[in-house]
Amino acid sequence: MIDLNTLPERLLLGPGPSNAHPRVLDALSRPLLGHLDPLFIELLDEVKQGLRNVFGTTNAFTLPISATGSAGMEACMVNLLEPGDNILVGVNGVFGGRMCEVASRAGAKVHRVEAAFGEPLDVDAMVTAIRATRPQLTAFVHAETSTGVLQRVPEIAAAAREVGSLVVLDCVTSVAGVAVELDEWGIDAAYSGTQKCLSCPPSLSPVSFSDRALERVRERATPVQSWYLDVSLLAGYYEGAKRAYHHTAPISSIYGLSEGLQLVEEEGLAAREARHREAAAALIDGVAEFGFTPLVAAEHRLPMLTSLQLPEAILNSGEAELRGALLNKHNIEVGAGLGSLAGQIWRVGLMGENARITSVDRLVGALREELS
Ligand SMILES: Cc1ncc(COP(=O)(O)O)c(C=O)c1O
Repeated sequence: MIDLNTLPERLLLGPGPSNAHPRVLDALSRPLLGHLDPLFIELLDEVKQGLRNVFGTTNAFTLPISATGSAGMEACMVNLLEPGDNILVGVNGVFGGRMCEVASRAGAKVHRVEAAFGEPLDVDAMVTAIRATRPQLTAFVHAETSTGVLQRVPEIAAAAREVGSLVVLDCVTSVAGVAVELDEWGIDAAYSGTQKCLSCPPSLSPVSFSDRALERVRERATPVQSWYLDVSLLAGYYEGAKRAYHHTAPISSIYGLSEGLQLVEEEGLAAREARHREAAAALIDGVAEFGFTPLVAAEHRLPMLTSLQLPEAILNSGEAELRGALLNKHNIEVGAGLGSLAGQIWRVGLMGENARITSVDRLVGALREELS
């Protein structure tokens, strides 16, 4: 059996999870409270407010769903789609593809606008498709972790609203790393995850629904197919003076999220974004000496996840072996390419607490040792 006391301290520079902040790890070990204890409810209310801040919203329905980011995605789809509805999804990476799969299982007719992996969605192509299909729902990814692309949002959201479509935005990787402005952009539902720029372990999916989105749920002709993710049932548990048992919230994870949000508040969102950008720039500079080049054009690059094209020498000598050496000899995890980019790129995450020059220096030092 693996002895947990002997687990190595890895530096997690992949696409997530990133390392949790020591203060978050400390918070996880605080004494358990009951999930309907007034003290816990007060803490939950603070967490909901902290989430509104990082989502850039005043949406009342903003809370952490008790499961990972994919559950947030599923919550948006199953609540906002009814069988036979049309959804338009922008697909320029693995997570846009996952949205299509989840929407199709919810019984929707899925229309896709595709862009090459490594490119953003073409805004004009999205706007044209929205006007042509007039979907009930438009969905796309803000920060595509599979490719390292940051998507421009406002024009697509505005076109969707013009035709009465609700807009869902995947903010799993962007929240607390780059500006997210749900209200300013006109987003109706968004979801995130705790294991990326919030510096917490995986376990929760912060979500936010606008009043317009909740209205759509109230007007449904069919019940939401998922009992666990039904936002009307969740509202009875997370909102108001009288909270009724729905499920048992993961108390310790919410302690961790509370501390993670406190850290964001202390640093400030603008300073946090600047720190992510500085770390990414240092990474690109630092690995240039080995021949790594960024996959994504500078203006579309994510600061918290950099896709690096592998130099010829590493392509020929086996990139998996080098990743293995980084992991086993240096305790550094970096991510492999996904889908069509498998074997072609590495994905290096500098997320949350890890977005520091010290992380870059450790990776560059380890690469120098392995490649010299
Ligand atoms: C952009 C994006 N969306 C959705 C997900 C799914 O989240 P999870 O793996 O926490 O379920 C991820 C996870 O990496 C992601 O990066």
